[in-house]
Amino acid sequence: MLTNQNIILAISGGIAAYKCAELTRRLKEHGANVRVVMTHAAKAFITPLTMQAVSANPVCDDLLDPAAEAAMGHIELAKWADLILVAPATADVIARINAGIANDLLTTVILASAAPLALSPAMNQQMYRAQATQDNIANLTKRGVKIWGPAQGEQACGDVGPGRMLEPMALVELAKQHFAAADALGKGVLDGITLTITAGPTREALDPVRFISNHSSGKMGYAIAAAAVDAGATVNLISGKVTIQPPQKALVTAVDSALEMHAAALSLAPKSDIFIACAAVADYRPIDVADQKIKKSADTMTITMTKNPDIVADVAALTEDRPYTVGFAAETQNVEKYAKGKMQRKKLDMICANDVSKGGQGFNADTNALSVFWQGGSEILPLTDKKQLGKALIALIMSQFKRV
Ligand code: PMT
Repeated sequence: MLTNQNIILAISGGIAAYKCAELTRRLKEHGANVRVVMTHAAKAFITPLTMQAVSANPVCDDLLDPAAEAAMGHIELAKWADLILVAPATADVIARINAGIANDLLTTVILASAAPLALSPAMNQQMYRAQATQDNIANLTKRGVKIWGPAQGEQACGDVGPGRMLEPMALVELAKQHFAAADALGKGVLDGITLTITAGPTREALDPVRFISNHSSGKMGYAIAAAAVDAGATVNLISGKVTIQPPQKALVTAVDSALEMHAAALSLAPKSDIFIACAAVADYRPIDVADQKIKKSADTMTITMTKNPDIVADVAALTEDRPYTVGFAAETQNVEKYAKGKMQRKKLDMICANDVSKGGQGFNADTNALSVFWQGGSEILPLTDKKQLGKALIALIMSQFKRV
């Protein structure tokens, strides 16, 4: 699983740093390329010479070292990584990473890298329990940073409690699981799976030339459809009117209104293994649709509307041939509470919540972030472009779908 994966082992200054020689050897044994970055404090616990010998690469420890920068500059190093593992991650380094401080090589590389980040906390149990550390860890988790450990037990200072760095083999296992999940969408992984997805907006007609709609561009739904097609699924894409191109090989049903989307969904869902409702469906439609263009007359106008059927709830309520049903929740506040409420009310297997009040997320943006909930679990898919997010979401759905 680690063959040719580029891992930066970032060592900060704690007694557990002595385990890093062993950790490096194990990572390399499993095929990883390891480059070591150390803080100055870390060098008090394990020497750069040791780390250079076991990693078979020069160790980087200084942001302002002209010779090191000439060999592989910190930005180049940040781009090289497929994973950055901070082990041990002290309370201080966790706080600095959370705050976005870049006052040494280790924190600068982390800030300059788009690679996934995993922290293996190691510190005195009271420092770990301190509210400041817990808040920092909670905040980093929300951003999608992986927290591996700590273990419980006797500590170097004599205390007993949480704060021991995980053993090298446990960290290697977690790194393997991380890359396995990222790889879960290889070609053919979804062979034999039929997936139906709704995407884009619906249009609710007022008259022959006017309609009520929303800002959904279809980008999120189309990205999920593309990820599923690439992984080998047969994909039915039920799409409202959008201006982007559907993925080649997706079987597109073009619709306008919520009623049309409802009919298409209820016809395709029972023939599907998985149903994903990513469309922004109008909750209401005008009761009366004028045959002719409505003429301007009074200063105000009242439109009486009636509720549209809830497409994803009706799919989830199928008693025969019910697919694994995934909904979306577009929220502007109380994201987790409202999303979980929708999952329960609509009887969904999974719900993907996006906070559409934030810039660069949700409607019509190229990027998005999702908080995904299912019975007994949740995962944050951090802000990234919708194509990447589509892949990550399909991998996550597949990991849960298999267990149903
Ligand atoms: O298309 P993009 O520009 O890329 O934007 C993506 C997105 C923001 C539209 C997408 O990520 C998203 O959040 N889609 C769901 C939008 C929405 O209508 O959310 P909601 O919270 O109102 O609805 C909850 C769920 O019920 C959704 O799965 C929705 O598809 C479904 N629904 C809603 C009403 C209805 N009548 N039938 C439904 O199936």
